[in-house]
Amino acid sequence: MKKQNYMWPSYTVGVCYYPEHWDEALWESDLDRMLSAGITAVRVFEFAWSIAEPEEGVFQFEFFDRFLDLCLKKNMKVIFGTPTATPPAWLSAKYPEVLNADNNGIPYEHGARRHYNYNSPVYKEKCRRIVTALAEHFGKHPAVCGWQIDNEINCETDDFHSEADQAAFRIYLQKKYQSLAELNRAWGTVFWNQTYTDWEQIRLPGHVLNRGWNPHQRLDYIRFVSDSARSFCFMQAEILRRFIKPGDFITTNGIFGHIDNYAMNEESLDIFGYDSYPNFAFGLNHRDHLQKTGFGLEEGLNDRRWSMHLSEVRAICPHFAILEQQAGAGSWISRMEGPMPIPGQIMLWGMQSIAHGADFVSFFRWRTCPFGTEMYWHGILDYDNQYNRRLAEVGDFASMLKKIEPLCGSDYQAPLAIVKDFDNMADAEVDVWHGRLDYPDEENIYCQAQLSHVPCDFVYLSDTMEAADLDPYKVLIYPHPAIMTGEKAKILTQYVERGGTLILGCRSGYKDENGQCPMKSAPGLLSDLTGTRVKESGFQHPAMPDAFILLDGLKIEASVFQDHLEPGQETEVLARYQGAWFTGTAALTRHRTGKGSCIHWGSTFTLPVLKKLFDMTGLSGHFDDIISLPESVEIAERTKDGRRFFILLNYMPEAQEIVLHRHMKDMVRGTSVFGKRIIHPFQVLVMEKES
Ligand code: GAL
Repeated sequence: MKKQNYMWPSYTVGVCYYPEHWDEALWESDLDRMLSAGITAVRVFEFAWSIAEPEEGVFQFEFFDRFLDLCLKKNMKVIFGTPTATPPAWLSAKYPEVLNADNNGIPYEHGARRHYNYNSPVYKEKCRRIVTALAEHFGKHPAVCGWQIDNEINCETDDFHSEADQAAFRIYLQKKYQSLAELNRAWGTVFWNQTYTDWEQIRLPGHVLNRGWNPHQRLDYIRFVSDSARSFCFMQAEILRRFIKPGDFITTNGIFGHIDNYAMNEESLDIFGYDSYPNFAFGLNHRDHLQKTGFGLEEGLNDRRWSMHLSEVRAICPHFAILEQQAGAGSWISRMEGPMPIPGQIMLWGMQSIAHGADFVSFFRWRTCPFGTEMYWHGILDYDNQYNRRLAEVGDFASMLKKIEPLCGSDYQAPLAIVKDFDNMADAEVDVWHGRLDYPDEENIYCQAQLSHVPCDFVYLSDTMEAADLDPYKVLIYPHPAIMTGEKAKILTQYVERGGTLILGCRSGYKDENGQCPMKSAPGLLSDLTGTRVKESGFQHPAMPDAFILLDGLKIEASVFQDHLEPGQETEVLARYQGAWFTGTAALTRHRTGKGSCIHWGSTFTLPVLKKLFDMTGLSGHFDDIISLPESVEIAERTKDGRRFFILLNYMPEAQEIVLHRHMKDMVRGTSVFGKRIIHPFQVLVMEKES
């Protein structure tokens, strides 16, 4: 069977279920209660390796045979997980080499999850064997509709330092560089006398003094981890494809660090899956994030930030699956993470996933587990197993999806996209200059797009992409692409030539693929496009007043960092720095190429500058002829067969007023609507534009 782009034939609601956690006597009533709430698919098995292989090489399938047969009888579909995220105790004990190690080389104990490494030959062999056995036995079962590989690849940790990884890293580098001379050049090892004279001397970047890592080595390390994870996923996908039924899909769940998820989806998966937990916005993580980025509650995105994550998923796979959707409070016994969803939020978040591209939403989990690390991670039902308001809301969500079925398979429409690529994501992590700029900037761009009601995609720039793939976007923002390649610069140039507007920020195009800075003025390979040369660049001096620009009389800070731009003859200067020793130097420029233009902004993307850029590029007012909305309501437009659908989501606990300037059909109530309307707290409206 070949890789397919899987599409759900109709909206489907699922739930994560762990038959091994419960008395078998509960299975039937559980399935009946799910079905009466509109849940028609369960995801199982992703942590149940020992049930099928209690001893090495001894396979027992009866337990899950009984469960799957019951599912078949009830007409419940099953997504079967491969159990490689939690290897059995017998495996870790007999083959300790399968364990991952921290960056001091200390192996993790068996327990928790994902304590294995991807490169141990023994682990790979044992995984091949269990995945083959499961696929052979359950692959043709009529209840099964799809397979999930592992669970949240690279969650828990995306760092690998086992001896198996050390050996695999050297092989990876030998393939990549062929000779030590080439590796020494790419890593600039002549600096601080790091020159390698034997492959065996090379190790993963681990415990070094004073954070003095070699940046080029670390860049390759992140690429290596990504490669390892992708090969592990590919290995499982290849086995599954040999046994599963035509039409069944292969997926995995989540976007985690140190993986080129776009590439992993392209090579191994039929549909990409994501786990959506919007209440992380209010848990401890949120506070850490706020401290790190200065972006959070005050700006008001909160749980709406998950729209950004879902848009990143859409960049990987436009029609995706939510394999875990938050249905209860989230806490481990060792970490308090997120509060209980308020009435209305289960529906709101489910519809947030639908608005952004999910045609399948599976809630986590059916019932709260009464034991183990996650005994405070609440599912739909509580320990007491009583019908509750959360199950009622899941039922309402399933009924809502039936009413809006024509939207299933529709496409999200966005005039704006934030461009990203794996090399620059890795570089932003290695290089603290970018660590400080990149991620908050992406969030700022997405935030401003949300507040201005400008639907925003992400796109992964890959060397294999065609410029025409970018045509749907009126504007692309590539915030700080430090690393630039000839192929990428070519695609961007063609995009502009064909009429697009590309916006670049400071610190663009000054590094090569190895993360070195060639002896050229920035933005290097992008200079022809920007029509600028960066004369000097640096952080805002802490002892000096903030540099700013004036745009239409408005004072806008050039925050954190400033590139001093030197415009070419045909480059228009839109604003110059003021209030700094470099007052008068160009800060914001526009340069035309073909039918389009490139705007070069010498600083970072704060909300005020973004607002102006949106005005300047015609993004503002995107929906003005159709609808007027307060900032706190999100709008998503989806289209199918010439039909235009609008989903409105009110994230606030207060009612909001909207005004419709076109006649719409309320798809849930079946009524025609126009003019002023109130959206209640956490309410969702789904409308179709009447012709
Ligand atoms: C997810 C994971 C689930 C469960 C859930 C709640 O990240 O895939 O297995 O752990 O979080 O913690």
